[in-house]
Amino acid sequence: MPGPELLDELRAVVGPSHLLVDADLVAGYAVDWTGRFCGATPAVVRPGTTDEVADVLAACRRHGAALTPQGGNTGLVGGGVPLHGEVVLSLRRLDELGAVDPVAGQVTAGAGVILAEVQRAAAAAGWAYGIDMASRDSATVGGTVATNAGGLRVLRYGDTRAQLLGVEAVLGTGAVVSHLGGLLKDNTGYHLPSLLCGSEGTLGVVTAARLRLVPPAAARVVALVAFDEVAPAIRAAGRLRRDLPPLDAAEFFLADGLALVREVTGAAAPFEADHAAYLLVEAAAAADPTDALGAAVASLDGVADVAVAAGTRRAAELWRYREAHTEAIHTLGPPHKLDVTLPQDELARFVADVPGAVAARAPNARCWLFGHAADGNVHVNVTGVPVDDDAVDDAVLTLAAARGGSISAEHGIGVAKRRWLAANRSPAELETFAGLKRALDPDGVLNPHVLLPGPLPARP
Ligand code: MLT
Ligand code: ZN
Repeated sequence: MPGPELLDELRAVVGPSHLLVDADLVAGYAVDWTGRFCGATPAVVRPGTTDEVADVLAACRRHGAALTPQGGNTGLVGGGVPLHGEVVLSLRRLDELGAVDPVAGQVTAGAGVILAEVQRAAAAAGWAYGIDMASRDSATVGGTVATNAGGLRVLRYGDTRAQLLGVEAVLGTGAVVSHLGGLLKDNTGYHLPSLLCGSEGTLGVVTAARLRLVPPAAARVVALVAFDEVAPAIRAAGRLRRDLPPLDAAEFFLADGLALVREVTGAAAPFEADHAAYLLVEAAAAADPTDALGAAVASLDGVADVAVAAGTRRAAELWRYREAHTEAIHTLGPPHKLDVTLPQDELARFVADVPGAVAARAPNARCWLFGHAADGNVHVNVTGVPVDDDAVDDAVLTLAAARGGSISAEHGIGVAKRRWLAANRSPAELETFAGLKRALDPDGVLNPHVLLPGPLPARP
């Protein structure tokens, strides 16, 4: 627990109004969006510049006080909340969004800029941003970089790491590194953006990012494709990647997820009959891709019905069936969110086997499966299990790893999955991770209980 001297120093850095200590004011920073991860903090410090971030970090190092960096607090693995009494370092005030470079198609965004603002600024300048997800109105650039967020368009544009041309960050050593020139070809040594992206605030605090933008699509079409069996729906996503070049998204969900979404949102049924599985497909191109989408869907096996959106309102309705899964599941209590990727040819078998694996550990649990089918990424959400009972986590994550998959596709490791990191990473890799941690955060103050398994790295 930091003493009053540290709090005085932090107050001197950011000003009294940006050091929050009242229980009411800090409460929202100490619990994650799902409610599964609930901690406590003595203070939330809200720097307004990169220099202030560096001064905050220096003060915490002097006092040996751990910090948890936090953006929009939309993370799903407990990596952004103070579960061990850490000081919360909120980056939301670093919200400066630079002008879009219309020629290069790039923009520099502060860590606290909201994802939807980047999307809007890109669109206003005739470009688009390749990252999109349901939490777009709250997630911040810094958070998406720290977690290497994925989302809905990864199959086309890649994950956040693939958008990063440079970062500015304060490392755990106190060094401020800034490389925001945005050169497309820049072969000058170690690529720090790649290292910091996905490091979950354990090596440095990202304060700004140089982002590449993508050409906008003038025309888009959305279709909901129904299947009476799950496996053909998943196989279809792989086929569409090859047969439908303008494919922008291919998202799947199942009958019980759709029923829950309809119950919670009051949405009408998409089809007259119920079906086992659904694939939401979006294609986007310079010219209308409707015919190309129709031809590609017509060639798929096992299609029971298709709804094509004529117009943006219907397209939004179709998307809502998929995007509302998170909020609908949340109404059942804090879910265990197990975000995994499988090799594409293992995904259908995994989806078939997961409910049995969960039921074996938690017979009363409910298992919800949906996700980014074309990326091999399924979100296994489990409800009806106490927040601290991780038997179902163990069942699902070990099954994914045993089938050649990853225990984290796009949400990160956080605190929720660090126990299973060794299922995907060898001792040599984990020792390399620990060495990087010791080098870049020698005092072990940056998110010390996140990502890396086992005890804190020893101080040199
Ligand atoms: C999504 O794609 O909707 C989220 O990443 C998954 C989730 O809420 O579990
Ligand atoms: Zn997702």
